[in-house]
Amino acid sequence: MSVQAISSRLPGRNAPQAIASRFDIEKLRADFPILHEVVNGRPLVYLDNAATSQKPESVIQAMVHYYRHDNANIHRGVHLLSQRATEEYEAGRGKVQAFLGAREAREIIFVRGATEAINMVAQTYGREHIGAGDEVLITTVEHHSNIVPWQILCQEKGATLCVAPINDRGELEIEEFERLLGPRTKMVSIAHVSNALGTINPVKWIVRLAHAMKVPVLVDGAQAVPHQPVDVRDLDCDFYVFSGHKLYGPTGIGALYGKAALLEEMPPYQGGGDMISSVTFEKTIYNKVPHKFEAGTPHIAGVIGLCAAIEYVSGVGIGAIGAHEHELLEYATEKVGELEGVRLVGTAREKAAVLSFVMDGIHPHDIGTILDQAGIAVRTGHHCAQPVMDRFGIPATVRASFGLYNTREEIDALVAGIQKVWEILG
Ligand code: ALA
Repeated sequence: MSVQAISSRLPGRNAPQAIASRFDIEKLRADFPILHEVVNGRPLVYLDNAATSQKPESVIQAMVHYYRHDNANIHRGVHLLSQRATEEYEAGRGKVQAFLGAREAREIIFVRGATEAINMVAQTYGREHIGAGDEVLITTVEHHSNIVPWQILCQEKGATLCVAPINDRGELEIEEFERLLGPRTKMVSIAHVSNALGTINPVKWIVRLAHAMKVPVLVDGAQAVPHQPVDVRDLDCDFYVFSGHKLYGPTGIGALYGKAALLEEMPPYQGGGDMISSVTFEKTIYNKVPHKFEAGTPHIAGVIGLCAAIEYVSGVGIGAIGAHEHELLEYATEKVGELEGVRLVGTAREKAAVLSFVMDGIHPHDIGTILDQAGIAVRTGHHCAQPVMDRFGIPATVRASFGLYNTREEIDALVAGIQKVWEILG
């Protein structure tokens, strides 16, 4: 069955929201087995969702079911299991298409995650279109995965990586961005939401500005899709990337959305099985999009798990999740922000689910270690965003990041933990 035929049988983009239930936090928490773990003798308080989110039972079971009942390679066998696996995999593509609001299922390429997706665009579209003297425009808040692939390309081609600065709140300096977007710019690549600061960038506006200069835009949505509805057609971005594991799905799977016309003309990323139509030693004819970009046996179970994760968050309602997290963020900003010795890092007016902070004279790793003893999991370090740390003149922050299952009581536990750190080390 073709990709289009399968995806046309799937429910429409907003259908899962229609069955959204009341946001019952205790019921939702019961869906996540790991939340019942005891850590250092204390109930787990998991506030490291920007690094990876926990998985609901439905995701775990979808993958177990696949391995127990349907496991086979896809697009290859005439036997029943292979057909079933193929159908589930391609249905997953349709599910991601609907989740992102893409026009066609073939605009969704399965990859290992956002990092691989950005590398793919840099090494395919970028290699074809970016040359000596050209510029790639990013911003200070980018994750290393949206810096280094462009750096590699720029070094190879003699192009320049330009960086739009941020202000003291961690917001993009809009006028500087506009000034840097010039006739040499051949690509804009920008985070939808900053992983280190939580800043939500005005990506729709950025796309409009860039398109006025005929410059394509890649949006790194790794930290956005778990927190807010995304519609790539509304954004009109050319590429959008995300990772499944931050969206309550498995690790090792993610998606690249690309406009069909761009994907059609891009060369393949990797060579191998499934990405070909025919091979001789003299010449290979490539398969059509999306298969041209999916060399080798893909992460079939990952796609099935991702599909279950999308069903889960859509069932809860991504709008309701975002609203719940926003409330938590406001509460945490107030409570943590007023603590002695604490300074918040990243106070943008538009923020998602991330609270970064430092404490006078105390290293973030020490804070993280003491919090861990109280069962509280946060991330400490540079968060793979060293230029952000440089911008604020600090080596690292403590980052608490929220997910759909977090509660006010957990933020109270974080506050008590920070007070204890201050008592011990302040
Ligand atoms: N990018 C992930 C983070 O921000 C790993 O923690």
